[in-house]
Amino acid sequence: MTTAGRKILFGGDHNPEQWPRPVWDEDLAAFELARIDTVTLGVFDWALLQPDEDTYDFTLLDEIVETVSAAGMKIIMATATGALPPWLAHRHPEVNRTDFEGRRHVYGQRHNACPSSPVFRRLSAALADRVAGHYAGHPALVAWHVGNEYGGACYCGSCTVAFQHWLRRRYGSLDVLNDAWNATFWSHTFTDWAQIVAPNALSEHWRGPDHTAFQGITLDYLRFTSDAMLTNFLDEKAAIRAHDTAVPVTTNFMGMYRPIDYHRWAEHLDVASWDNYPPDDRAHARMALTHDLMRGLKGGAPFWLMEQTPTVTASRDVNPLKRPGVMRLWSWQAVAHGADAVLFFQMRQSRGACEKYHGAVLDHAGRTDTRSFREVATLGAELERLGDAVLGARTPARAALLFDWDSWWAVEISDGPNRHVRYQQVVMAYHRALWQAGAQLDVVPVTADLSPYDVVVAPLLHMVKGDLAQRLEAVAARGGSVLATFLSGRVDESDNAFLADVPGPLAALFGVRVEETDAQPPEVTNPVRLLGPGSNHDTGIVSDARLVFELVVPDGAEVVGTYGADFYAGTPAVTRRRTGSGGDAWYVATALDDAGVAWVVRRVLDRHGLTGPYADVEDLELAVREREGTRTAFVLHHGRKPVEVAAHASGTDLLTGRRVELGELLRLDPTDVLVLREDPA
Ligand code: GLA
Ligand code: ZN
Repeated sequence: MTTAGRKILFGGDHNPEQWPRPVWDEDLAAFELARIDTVTLGVFDWALLQPDEDTYDFTLLDEIVETVSAAGMKIIMATATGALPPWLAHRHPEVNRTDFEGRRHVYGQRHNACPSSPVFRRLSAALADRVAGHYAGHPALVAWHVGNEYGGACYCGSCTVAFQHWLRRRYGSLDVLNDAWNATFWSHTFTDWAQIVAPNALSEHWRGPDHTAFQGITLDYLRFTSDAMLTNFLDEKAAIRAHDTAVPVTTNFMGMYRPIDYHRWAEHLDVASWDNYPPDDRAHARMALTHDLMRGLKGGAPFWLMEQTPTVTASRDVNPLKRPGVMRLWSWQAVAHGADAVLFFQMRQSRGACEKYHGAVLDHAGRTDTRSFREVATLGAELERLGDAVLGARTPARAALLFDWDSWWAVEISDGPNRHVRYQQVVMAYHRALWQAGAQLDVVPVTADLSPYDVVVAPLLHMVKGDLAQRLEAVAARGGSVLATFLSGRVDESDNAFLADVPGPLAALFGVRVEETDAQPPEVTNPVRLLGPGSNHDTGIVSDARLVFELVVPDGAEVVGTYGADFYAGTPAVTRRRTGSGGDAWYVATALDDAGVAWVVRRVLDRHGLTGPYADVEDLELAVREREGTRTAFVLHHGRKPVEVAAHASGTDLLTGRRVELGELLRLDPTDVLVLREDPA
């Protein structure tokens, strides 16, 4: 494709097959008003396209494709395997999942095929083959959308057998497996692969999926499940690639979604895409984190925002409206963090079933004179004006946050030290501080190349795999800063403790030894006094710490903060080890409150000049994209009160054409967005 006419894709899920014909034309007229140029078709069309095992029928979808492409729409074509048709589940009950309690489900809902079912694998690939064979080469096609929101788990007989095969490939022999699972404990030594069962309520678990007698088995089942669903994706992708070697293939991810290790999938997607449904309307930092995590899947390449609601969701107990300006603000936030597509679920509000109150670009009456439609149309016009200005542009980040599904799983299925420690909460606490400080950030897997970064923050790095410790050491050795927290460096890839001082392979880098670990219920706090080492100008602060309190013996590190209570009052809670080359390694041995985390993070960023120009303006976000030396800065106001700031650069506002001069006083009202094409430095 040439750059001419290229722009951020704008549109979303479109299901004309669910509405009578006259509605199709109404939709297209509305799309034109809103500058909608892209539709995702057929996500749930399995029953339509294949009414029985021997019949495929593309008549209706062909008409839809003709109609929308004649109107100039680009098409993201789904493989239609997002939900099973009743005939399939009825004829082949094995495609239905068996749940954690061991109950084989009957037909219903969606996203619930057994990933190991040979019938499901055969028929889903066959459908993808038909769809791809039918639409490959269509000039309107911009992407293939495989399945939908892969997730969940199955514990059936087919999955058990597939798990045994997966384990054979991973371990090669039962001796290696028994060692990895520490099987001698509780007499679990397996002498035949067939003895291994899926870990669920009938086997190793007693109080739900996170309470297991054998972490090794459960952890491997999580990895297996993620891989099994990846196999489903790959089955369909291979079917597509037999017909089309060029058009990108993706599937819509769900951001910080625990059951699927998106890092294990990433290399198989041509473009990462995800569905953004934040838990509430104050989730701007969390969304920034999730966008960055999704961008990190493909080494910083742009991602697609595959879904967001224009107005409300329907699946929560209470479903508040996005306030005026919020949909636009969040859409620009996605673009600011690397989205080259802004897509909605969905174009027209569902007539019936569980999403009939879910918001859409067009409501049940199809009105285009509503507030929400007007906001969609305004955004459509702005995206058109932006054109190709940031397509392909990347985030110039010198700070990285490590994110690791294995650590997430291992911490949350662990017995001890504290069930209240939640991986996401800790990651989000450190991210919030980085975000509020305005650091341009990459969120990367633990296998990422760390050499571009001056600062690497690794919250809850529970599991240390491969050469990660050495790569972190290298950051500090060349003058960078590394930060890790409590419960880091505890276990190896098999979730077995290192037979060494805590934090195991990280001990040398941080210059500490954790001798004991105290845990307390959430209501118990310990006041940690944070003081700049050797700096008498630094008055420090007191931060309330909770949940986990590691008792640290410095071994080369200096003490930056100390506990204020309990029998370990006065002992180190935060330390820093300086390396000869001017680098440093910070260890935070407890869960500090937000102010404490911010205090530490600001010190780390300030040293490297990575604190942003609006760091002290609450909820004002600056995110930068850069292409061929040209920087586009997005200033996004998530706060609830107007703010005035001095512009951080001179440039042109791409949305209004207005000039902005460095230092000029900018007034931003709540939800305001400035897209500043910065003048060359
Ligand atoms: C998900 C699905 C869509 C729709 C939306 C509703 O993201 O992919 O099919 O159900 O949720 O929020
Ligand atoms: Zn199964």
